[in-house]
Amino acid sequence: MSNPRVITLAFTGASGLQYGLRLLDCLLASRAQVYLLYSPAAQIVARQEMALTFPSQPAAAAAYFSERYHAQPGQLTVFGREDWLSSVASGSNPADAMAICPCSMGTLGALAAGLADNLIERAGDVMLKERRPLVLVPRETPLSAIHLENMLTLARAGAVILPPAPGFYGHPQSINDLVDFVVARILDQLGVGHELGPRWGAHRLPLPTIERA
Ligand SMILES: Cc1cc2nc3c(=O)[nH]c(=O)nc-3n(C[C@H](O)[C@H](O)[C@H](O)COP(=O)(O)O)c2cc1C
Repeated sequence: MSNPRVITLAFTGASGLQYGLRLLDCLLASRAQVYLLYSPAAQIVARQEMALTFPSQPAAAAAYFSERYHAQPGQLTVFGREDWLSSVASGSNPADAMAICPCSMGTLGALAAGLADNLIERAGDVMLKERRPLVLVPRETPLSAIHLENMLTLARAGAVILPPAPGFYGHPQSINDLVDFVVARILDQLGVGHELGPRWGAHRLPLPTIERA
């Protein structure tokens, strides 16, 4: 895999912000150039779920996340919700890949309908039309027929639908292990190298013996 890459990352107002923050941490550690966007609902979830207050102004937000995750100078840029002059708003300068993590059903529906009504929706729309990787990490349960049809529409348009559904076959010991399982799969889809946990088959484990009755 080729590092560093240019990655757009968006947080929306679904539960599971921990996945998004860990993804940001790993992207910056990989030396990727990161464009970060987040919705007002994501700011509410950050307060509710993780007791974090995200700055509302892009420059303050870039300073906040850069300090939190030890970004290199200029490595992280945060764009405002309607910054239509930003690079991510145009197909003439798209990122290598984009992830929306977590992705609310609202943003999912807007993407499926092609609304492009804010910068997150527009940046996602650009990735689809430019045939660049767009990874969506949708979170809701149970899923309605509308949610499922929106996911199918987006999968048919080229998006990767990657639900945060960690496997348990690696014997996770903590919530961080579960988060890393999902983040590793997202990084794989974005083409960003990582060492988050062993890969299946790399170290063969003996299968547990099944006692016969
Ligand atoms: C604490 C909290 C948790 C939420 N969890 C979810 C969720 O898991 N999935 C979802 O689709 N919406 C969830 N919502 C509702 C969305 O935030 C809401 O639909 C919002 O309009 C999404 O806007 P956005 O897509 O612009 O971020 C949650 C809201 C709050 C406050």
